[in-house]
Amino acid sequence: MRLFVAIELPDRQKQALRQLRTEIPAARWLPPGQLHLTLAFLGEVAAERTGLLAEALAAIREAPFELAVGGSGCFPQRSRPRVLWAGVTAAAGLLRLAARVQAAVRACGLELEERPFSPHITLARLKVPCPREVGLFLDRHRQLDLGSFPVTGFTLFQSRLSPEGALHLPLRVFPLLAADSDG
Ligand code: 2AM
Repeated sequence: MRLFVAIELPDRQKQALRQLRTEIPAARWLPPGQLHLTLAFLGEVAAERTGLLAEALAAIREAPFELAVGGSGCFPQRSRPRVLWAGVTAAAGLLRLAARVQAAVRACGLELEERPFSPHITLARLKVPCPREVGLFLDRHRQLDLGSFPVTGFTLFQSRLSPEGALHLPLRVFPLLAADSDG
């Protein structure tokens, strides 16, 4: 199974992000329902290891935190953009959660890319770079501010590849609990 761990977005932010769509040739925009913030991309994981992984993720104890959505950017660089994204504030709670998730994944003997965590919400992928149009988009949304929302959990997703694009299926949601909560 192809797996990743992500934070789901509330409908308000998903709809606001959907409104940003503009005419960029060769851009494949993510369906609003699939917009998310990846914490860890695991790739292929043998079905018999998913139980252990779910246990490790369920053992994470972190408090809920606020996440602000704003700004925009692209990967790998403006002169040849391949991924267009909206930004989030790298709040301490987010960085702590990402580190915990990545440690839990590695503790299960699963490998992760060494790349540093660079939080973003992918909006579109570009089959061919369109630097002019992407530049205009980024200039227009430099000050983008879509408000914040409370992150109260994270989700283990399966990604099923198909010719129409990846289908993301939530397998399990793990709640974040305030320090004084039971459990
Ligand atoms: P993204 O966050 O930039 O869109 C499911 O594919 C999720 O895992 C996507 O959100 C995707 O990137 C992220 N991801 C990270 N590394 C990946 C990789 N090497 N291949 C596919 N997806 C990856």
